[in-house]
Amino acid sequence: MHAYQDLVAQAVRDYEGFWANLAATTLDWSKPFTKVLDETEAPFYKWFEDGELNASYNCIDRHVEAGNGSRRAIVFEADDGKVSYVTYADLLNGVSRFANALKRRGVGKGDRVVIYMSMSVQGVVAMQACARIGATHSVVFGGFSSKALNERLVDVGATALVTADEQVRGGKTLPLKSIADEALALGGCEAVKSVIVYQRTGGEVAWKEGRDFWMHELTQTESDQCPPEPVGAEHPLFILYTSGSTGKPKGVQHSTGGYLLWAAQTLKWTFDWKQNDVFWCTADIGWITGHSYITYGPLALGGTQVVFEGVPTFPNAGRFWDMIARHRVSLFYTAPTAIRSLIKASEVDSKSHPKQFDLTSLRILGTVGEPINPEAWVWYHENVGGGRCPVVDTWWQTETGGHMITPLPGATPLVPGSCTLPLPGIMAAVVDETGQDVPNGQGGILVIKRPWPSMLRNIWGDPDRYRSSYFPEELGGKLYLAGDGAVRDNGTGYFTIMGRIDDVLNVSGHRLGTMEIESALVAHPLVAEAAVVGRPDDTTGEAVCAFVTLKRELPVGEDATQLASELRTWVGKQIGPIAKPKDIRFGDNLPKTRSGKIMRRLLRSLAKGEEITQDVSTLENPTILEQLGESR
Ligand code: WT7
Repeated sequence: MHAYQDLVAQAVRDYEGFWANLAATTLDWSKPFTKVLDETEAPFYKWFEDGELNASYNCIDRHVEAGNGSRRAIVFEADDGKVSYVTYADLLNGVSRFANALKRRGVGKGDRVVIYMSMSVQGVVAMQACARIGATHSVVFGGFSSKALNERLVDVGATALVTADEQVRGGKTLPLKSIADEALALGGCEAVKSVIVYQRTGGEVAWKEGRDFWMHELTQTESDQCPPEPVGAEHPLFILYTSGSTGKPKGVQHSTGGYLLWAAQTLKWTFDWKQNDVFWCTADIGWITGHSYITYGPLALGGTQVVFEGVPTFPNAGRFWDMIARHRVSLFYTAPTAIRSLIKASEVDSKSHPKQFDLTSLRILGTVGEPINPEAWVWYHENVGGGRCPVVDTWWQTETGGHMITPLPGATPLVPGSCTLPLPGIMAAVVDETGQDVPNGQGGILVIKRPWPSMLRNIWGDPDRYRSSYFPEELGGKLYLAGDGAVRDNGTGYFTIMGRIDDVLNVSGHRLGTMEIESALVAHPLVAEAAVVGRPDDTTGEAVCAFVTLKRELPVGEDATQLASELRTWVGKQIGPIAKPKDIRFGDNLPKTRSGKIMRRLLRSLAKGEEITQDVSTLENPTILEQLGESR
C-alpha cells in the first residue's frame, strides 16, 4: 500500500513526469518523445506526440533481439482440445509474412483493415501485422451479423477484410466467410479490394476470383523479413466499435504510444506480472479486453499466455479448470457471467466443480466487464483460488484502453463487489449532474478528471459526438464522463460501480445499446413501435426485455410465442445473437407521458415483475400494463 500511495503521490506532484517516465521505460521508441501531454486542442488530447515507435516491434522483435525468440508467446488450445505452441520467433516469422502479404495487396500506413475472425493465433497475427505496417485494424466480433459487419466496413472505410472460412465453438462449426460475403454484398464497402481468408475448417466457401485469397497461400511466398514501420505515437493503432446511447455504434479510436504503454503497464501492476507467469485472459479478440490483454499487453511484456478457441462449457463445464491445470496457468482473467454460469453448472454436475482439479498453479484471479456480485466473488476466491489468490475486480471500458480502477494484488485490502481504488495517475471521482464532487457515501456520476495516455482519441469520423458523449458541457466540458454510476465508501474511499446511467445494457459483459435493438425491431415489417430496457438476470447480469406494438392485432397464445421467436431471430440477423431479447412483451400500445415520451422507468418495473407503484393516471389505456406484464 505504501508503494501504491507513493506512485499516486508522484503522479499528483508531477503528472507529466510520472507518465513520461513510464512511457520511456516500458516501451522502445525508434524516436524518443520530447513532449508529453498536449492539451491545446482539448478534449482532443495528444500524448508523446513527437515520439515514434511501432507496436509490433514492441510486442515481438524486441524480445527476439534480446535473445528470447524461443520463449513461448502463445499456448493455443483449439475447441477440440488440440494444443499448439507459438514462440516469439514463430510470431515474428508469421507476422512479417502476413504484413508483407498485406502490403502486396496494396494495404499501407493509415489504411483500415477489418478483421472478422474467431479466436485464433491467426487473428492475433493479423492484428499485429496491421500494426507492423501502420495500418489501422478494426476487429469485428465473430458473433456479429452481416448487417453489423457491413455497417462497420462502411463506417471505417476498410480496404481489406481478413476473415476465416468457418469458426468452431462448442463442437459446432459456424460460418464466417459466407457472412462476410453477405456483408460485402450489402454494398457501400466497394473500397474493400481484398478478402483474405484463414482456412480453419476446410469447409466449402464461395470464392470471388481476384478479390478472395487464402491466407496460407499469400504468406507462403512472402519473405519473413518485414521492417516494422515507425509511426507517430498518436497514429491510430485501431478502431473498435462499441455501443452508445444512439442507434449507431461508435468507432472508438485508440492511439499507438499511449495505448500500448497502458496495456503493458496495467498488466504489470494489476496482475503483478512476472517473467515465468502463464497468463490466460478468456475474452475474445473482438472486444477491448482481447485487444489489451491478449494481442498487446502480454506480448509487449514478452510473456506467455493461453489463447482459447472454444467455450467454457464444452465438452463440459470443467473446461476452464482443466485447462488451468494442464497449462499451469498462474494469472487468470475472466468475466463474472462465466463464473456465475460455471457455479450453476457445478451444482448440477459435481465433476465440473473446480475442486476436482489441481489449481495450485494459480496466483491471481481477475474479473472484468460487469459488476461481480459478492456471492460469485466469494465462490471464485474460495473454490478457484483456494482462498489463496487475490481477486482483482478491474473496472474499465473500451474507451479507457486499459484498467482504471482495480485492486493491486497483495497490496489493496479486498472487498467483494468493489473495484477499490484508481491506479496511479488515474484521477477518478464521483460528481453530481453539474460536475461538483459529491461526498463519499453518496452516489453520483463516475468521471476521470485528467486525460490519461490510453484514453480514446476520437470517435472515428465524428468528433462532435466524441465531445458531446465524453466531455459534456453540463459537467463543464473537461471531465471524462464514463457513463457509469458509482459511490465511494465513507471510510476507505473505495469505488463501487452501480451500473450504466445511459441507455446502454450490459448482457454477459457485452455492451448493447437499447436504441440499436429498438431500431432492429422496428425494421421488422410487422413492428410498429418498440422499447427496450434491461432487467436483472442471475447469470447474464442484465437481460434484454423488449416491449413491442404491432401493425396488426395483438397476438395471443401460440401466435404470440411464434411471433416472439421470429422477432428474436430477426434481431439476431440484424445485430447478432448476443442482442436477441430474452423477454418479448406485446401490447396494443406503450405507456407514454402526456408529451408522448415512453415511460421507461415504468417499463423497467414491468420487466422486473415489480408491482407498479408509480402514478399511471396519465396513461391513456391502463389495461396495457396487464398486457405488457406477460412475457413471451
Ligand atoms: C462497461 C464497459 C472493460 C472491458 C470489457 C467491457 C462495465 C466493466 C466493470 C467492473 C462493474 C464494469 C461498466 C463499463 N464494467 N468492468 N469491474 N465492475 N462494471 O468493456 O464493453 O466497453 O463496457 O462495462 O458499465 O462502463 P465495455
